[in-house]
Amino acid sequence: MTPTPVPGRPTSARTLWAVSDLHIAAPGNRELVEELVVPQHPGDWLIVAGDVAEKTNTILGMLSDLNDRFAKVIWVPGNHELFSRPKDTVHAEQKYAELVAGCRAMGVLTPEDPYPKFAGRTIVPMFTLYDHSWRDPRTSVKHALLAAEGNGVMFTDQVAIAPYVDVPLWCQERLGYTVRRLSQTTGPTVLVNHWPLVREVTERLELPEIALWSGTRHTQAWPVRFRAETVIYGHLHIPVLTEVDGVSHVEVSLGYPREHHHTLDKRRARELWPYPVLTEDPREEEA
Ligand SMILES: [Fe+2]
Repeated sequence: MTPTPVPGRPTSARTLWAVSDLHIAAPGNRELVEELVVPQHPGDWLIVAGDVAEKTNTILGMLSDLNDRFAKVIWVPGNHELFSRPKDTVHAEQKYAELVAGCRAMGVLTPEDPYPKFAGRTIVPMFTLYDHSWRDPRTSVKHALLAAEGNGVMFTDQVAIAPYVDVPLWCQERLGYTVRRLSQTTGPTVLVNHWPLVREVTERLELPEIALWSGTRHTQAWPVRFRAETVIYGHLHIPVLTEVDGVSHVEVSLGYPREHHHTLDKRRARELWPYPVLTEDPREEEA
């Protein structure tokens, strides 16, 4: 497909695009990605903010295809990338390591790589998980999970991730690793994480219990503290832009067919999917 130039955008400009929750195993989603997630300039970059698929080969195959199209691809894992079944040979942490190694072999950036810069901003791929702390503070984690189950809300994570790793403990380790690296950044940033960083964006959930698996209260202050202009996230499958404390939080998910069926054309008409995070005219950089 020949990319269509967007009116008003300088032909020499390169863009950092963002997508998430491609769920390419869902009927029709792979075809949509192949048709719609294309660069408009040979220097365009792409953020893929998690939930590409569940199987390692499928995930890496899609990232490889996208890496062939875009000048640079930046990937962060979602919960679906971490799924495994009892008969699988790798689980949770080993599966993440396997995916990072696969990305590294093809030059796709992950949360384990030096942070790249685009248009003067530091782009920060993050992997911080969740710790069930977005709950009623008067209840324990155990009671919050039991209450969610009682209301019919139970994430696949509980059978496909939780049996193989202590997720809240892994979350704690990831938070320490990430905040140490963030503390070394200077200047404006774009923070990229599968799970949202601030609780406000979960207020749109029809089932509030889903927030238990959607992030951690420990990242709430990070966007302001680390000078984020934009936070790119996915996971909720509620693709909206929310301003919190002067920072734009943008959910860039595609989602399942039943979800994007009615909304994707409207988002496409407004040029919001794939989401253009930053545009840079190299001639301005040289001036
Ligand atoms: Fe998803």
